[in-house]
This record gives sequence, structure tokens and C-alpha cells, in this order.
Amino acid sequence: MATATLSEQRVYESAAPRYKLLLVEDDPGLQKYIASMLVDGNYAVTQCTTAAEALSKMSQSKPDLVLLDVFMPDVNGLEILRQFRAMAPTVKVLALSCLHDPRHSIEIIRLGAKDVLLKPFHKEELIASIDRCLGTTAVNTGQHIELDGNSMFVFASSRMREIRSQCALVAKVDIPVLILGESGTGKEVLAKFIHKSSPRANRVFLKVNCAAMPGDLLESELFGYEQGAFTGAVRSKPGKFELCNGGTILLDEIGEMPASLQAKLLHILQDGSFSRLGGRTTIKVDVRVLAATNIDIKNHIAQKLFREDLFYRLNGFTIQLPPLRERKEEIPVVLNYFLRRLAGEFGCQVPTLSESIAEACMSYNWPGNLRELENFVKRYLVLNDENLAIADLLGPSYTPKRSTSMAVPIDSVPSPNLGGLKNLVRGLKDEAEMEAISNALGKTRWNRKQAAVDLRISYKALLYKIKQYGIQPPQGA
Ligand SMILES: Nc1ncnc2c1ncn2[C@@H]1O[C@H](COP(=O)(O)OP(=O)(O)OP(=O)(O)O)[C@@H](O)[C@H]1O
Ligand SMILES: [Mg+2]
Repeated sequence: MATATLSEQRVYESAAPRYKLLLVEDDPGLQKYIASMLVDGNYAVTQCTTAAEALSKMSQSKPDLVLLDVFMPDVNGLEILRQFRAMAPTVKVLALSCLHDPRHSIEIIRLGAKDVLLKPFHKEELIASIDRCLGTTAVNTGQHIELDGNSMFVFASSRMREIRSQCALVAKVDIPVLILGESGTGKEVLAKFIHKSSPRANRVFLKVNCAAMPGDLLESELFGYEQGAFTGAVRSKPGKFELCNGGTILLDEIGEMPASLQAKLLHILQDGSFSRLGGRTTIKVDVRVLAATNIDIKNHIAQKLFREDLFYRLNGFTIQLPPLRERKEEIPVVLNYFLRRLAGEFGCQVPTLSESIAEACMSYNWPGNLRELENFVKRYLVLNDENLAIADLLGPSYTPKRSTSMAVPIDSVPSPNLGGLKNLVRGLKDEAEMEAISNALGKTRWNRKQAAVDLRISYKALLYKIKQYGIQPPQGA
């Protein structure tokens, strides 16, 4: 092996390391320390101490992932990120930052980094972040984050893990977020997750569907009215913005908002002030605005149906939810979740499910996304006949391969496409592990040291798992 220099050291080289990492960190001590966390045969790490060197090494080493300290002495970190993106737009970047400021982290994500890891970090956090960026996190284990009493945010694909990280970051800063995605992809679920991850989590969350009513009704719904503002306004009534003061409002189907209301909305986004219909006084509120739409909003702007200035106001950060057909690896996890939840709601047993139903779900394209999958599960539970449910989904040309009597429990649905039994079992194991950790934390009132002792795992491992599963302490813990 060639003699390594201080600035470019091959810290690990095995016969076949799976991923090439370029570590750009100016602090030699820290560089060595980070590199030492990555000596496990999985990674070949090239190290650089300056931005200039890193940029020149890029073309030679062709890394799968760049670990970039965003505070380099020779060039501003965000500038180096811009340069990386310009030189190699497809290269993945994991930013390492010591600035615990969500706005800064959001800026880094906006510039195209896959994730931001805040210093100091543990080895487990670093590896988990690298896995997320490389998309190598085991799929089908799934994460289940509780949103309210009976709904959860469930995901398993690397793209959704990335979206979850971004949302958790954006949640901390009071900027508007625009959530785009086809119908049924989970825009409302995501909005609830953002609210729940934000400092407003204990305040009210309200949704207003901007397409569900005519303009004047929507105006009174959003902004309220004074007595006598129109025929029938016998007493004054506050609107959703007032009711939501201190909390979060989701303006759903924002693309359908009538032009007359868009100007009023723009105003409230600028300084939080508005007047009720027929009112003379100005009311000021503190409401975080999230907006969602499934239409092509840029096209709407081009057609002058949506104000461009309003779009830029709403677009503090944009999340594009992928359709289910582009994250099919999540189907087993979500299917399992819907089955358990809905069977519970319907008061029936979690049914048995055969390979054919799993295969049918994987082969179908789901134009209605997760909502359609949820409805499919409802139908399946009601019909209590899998062949009928599949024929309903795939059309009458479907010919059953096996009889329903060959059904096996959902927990053991095997299918080559699904990643098989192993992944499903792993998913269930994760659920059980998450529950055990939550119980231990509850019992010890979030005394993590004691919980780690009770669970007989190391304190570090517990911290890592709390983060991995997104377990949140109850308010006041
Ligand atoms: N990631 C998810 N985890 C769990 N449930 C989900 C997820 N995504 C969607 N769902 C479920 O699928 C259904 C549709 O989700 P949601 O209403 O959030 O979609 P949407 O994108 O807002 O749809 P639309 O554009 O039609 O309003 C809901 O019942 C929701 O609970
Ligand atoms: Mg919706």
C-alpha cells in the first residue's frame, strides 16, 4: 500500500469494501476519530483536510458518499457544498455540522445534502446516517411513529426515511411547508408528523380543505365573520386561523383556493394579521401554516390560477412525497399496519393472508396510493374472501392460483418480491423492541440510564434505539 500522507490516508482497505467514502474534515483529531468509527470492512475511507483537496479528490476517488464538515477554514461550508453539487450533482453528501441551528441545517438540505449530522455524534448515529444516505438501511423493518390516538406515520423506504429526517428538521423552525404528492400519498399524515415534531405539538392542529367549499364560505371558515356581515350572520364567529392561534393549520388542496382569497392569505403569511368578514379591526395571530396539494402547482401558476408570490411564501420548504409505486418495498409493512389497525377497528381478528394476496399487492400499481391500499384492506376484511378481494383489485381477468384454505398468517407472508419472511419477522421484532423500550422508559420516567440497566443494554445502544425508532418523551419528562 502506498505511504499515506496526513491529508490523504487510506484508513481502511479490505479486499472488497462495499462503499467508498470521502471524509472531509479539517480537524485532524476529529478526522482520525471519525475514520476509526468506520473501520468495519464495509467502507473504504479517503480523508481530506481541506476543501480544495476534497474537490480535486472527488474525480479520482468517485465516492459513494461524501462526509463533509461544513465549517472548513479555506472555504465557507455551504460554498463547498454548492461546488460539490455543481461538479457532481449525483454524488451524495452527508453534512457534518457543529451548528445546532435548524435554519442552518435546512439550508444544507436545500443545497442538496442527504442528511445533516450534528456534532458530537456516536458511532451508531454516524452509521445510521450513512446507511440512510446510501439507502442501505434494511427495508421492510419499517418505522411506526404515533401521531394521535389511532393513527401512525409508517414508512420503510430510504426515500421516506430521508423525508422523515427532513420533516423533523423543518418542524423545529416556524416556516411554511408545502407538501406535494399524488392523492393518497400521505400528505396529511406528514403534516401531522411535522406538527407533532414541532414546538407547537401540544397546541391545536387544524385542517381546512380549500377545495371543499365555495370562496365566500371558505373565507368565513378561515377568517371568521362579524355579526351582520352577511344575511344569516346572526352572531359573530371566529375563523380557523383564530381557533388555531399558537398551533398549526394545514391548508389542504391549496391549489384550489379561489384567487380572491389568495391575496388575503398572502397577507396573513406576511405578518399574521387579517380581519374577520365585515370586521373593521385587525386581528393578529401566531399560526404555523402548512399547505398541501396534489395538483401541478407550477402549471397552475403558469395558467395564472395561482399567485406566484403566494407560492413563494408558502414554499418555505417543499416536500415531494413519492407515489407508492415508487416505494413498493414499503407495501408489506404498510399492509401489515393497515391489517392490524383496521382489524382492531372492525373488532375482528387479524386475518390470515396468503402469498397470492401479497404478490397481488406487489404487482398492482396503486394509482390511489396508500389510501387505495387502505381501502383494499377494508374490502378484504369485509369480504373475508381473498380471491374476491384480489379479483376486485386486479380485475376480473385474475385467476386464483391457490385456494384460500392455503392461507398462512400475515406474519409469515413469504414472497421473493417482499424480501420474504425474514423482513417481516424483523419488522415485528422492531415493533416488539420499540414497545419494550417505550415501556422501560415509561416505568423509569425517562431515566434513560436506569431504563438501559433494566433492558440490559448499554446506555449508548439505548440512545441510538430511541433515535432510530423516533421514541419521544411525554411532555414534561
Ligand atoms: N405513511 C403513512 N403511514 C400510515 N398511514 C398512511 C401513510 N400515508 C398515508 N396513510 C393513510 O392513507 C390514507 C391517505 O393519507 P392522507 O390523507 O395523508 O393522504 P393525502 O396525500 O393527504 O391524500 P389526498 O391528496 O387525497 O388528500 C389515510 O387514511 C392515512 O392514514
Ligand atoms: Mg389530504
